[in-house]
Amino acid sequence: MAIIRRRMPFKIIVTAGPTLEPIDPVRFISNRSTGYMGYKIAEIAVKRRHSITLISGPARLKPPKVKRFISIETADELLKAIKKEIKKADCLIMCAAVSDFRAKKPARKKIKRNKGMSLKLIPNKDLLKELAREKRGKLFVGFSLETENIVKNSVKKLKTKNLDLVVVNRLTKSHNPFGDNKLDVCIIGSSGQKITLYNKYKSYIAHVLLDKIEQLWYLER
Ligand code: CTP
Repeated sequence: MAIIRRRMPFKIIVTAGPTLEPIDPVRFISNRSTGYMGYKIAEIAVKRRHSITLISGPARLKPPKVKRFISIETADELLKAIKKEIKKADCLIMCAAVSDFRAKKPARKKIKRNKGMSLKLIPNKDLLKELAREKRGKLFVGFSLETENIVKNSVKKLKTKNLDLVVVNRLTKSHNPFGDNKLDVCIIGSSGQKITLYNKYKSYIAHVLLDKIEQLWYLER
């Protein structure tokens, strides 16, 4: 039987934007994330009167009026910030595009061009896997970006990262998920349920995702 949770407010951490991993004091490794999706989710969740902590990598966007805004650069800083906030939260929406690699040894001084260089990269930690121990009844929502075997790889992430929902995005020549474009996405739940949305603005996708999260939190857990 469904149990209705009356505890308010619903406390959500939203992570957004890219992480940025230094090579030297001037250069970095990052990705094409703009933060637009995460900022939209945070903005709409605030309008729904949820209590929002937005943790963001560098984004050229004005942050919505959230309860707490935390600015981070690297994946390590993002993990630390989430770990600090997660105990007070009911839900984590992991929209940040975490850089999968970082320089093994970032240089302390600017690397001179005339010396040439080869860069040794090492993988960053999987933040969602690192956070698995903190889950304890909270809702974890991930985003998945794939260029091939899109649904299969995303369902694998849903399972290995212990997620309640995964928002599946594809990147092809004609379908660019970065910025404020209209998108096709599929929201997949841990019990196999699927919501497919075609050619929708990110604000619409954010509403559908928050509807699903609220349904899981208030009615189905
Ligand atoms: N994520 C994470 N830690 C990482 C990389 C990603 O927690 N080091 C999170 C993202 O915020 C997202 C989800 O995991 O919610 C899936 O991210 P994605 O980049 O699609 O997949 P990866 O786990 O990085 O796997 P791969 O790049 O090999 O597809």
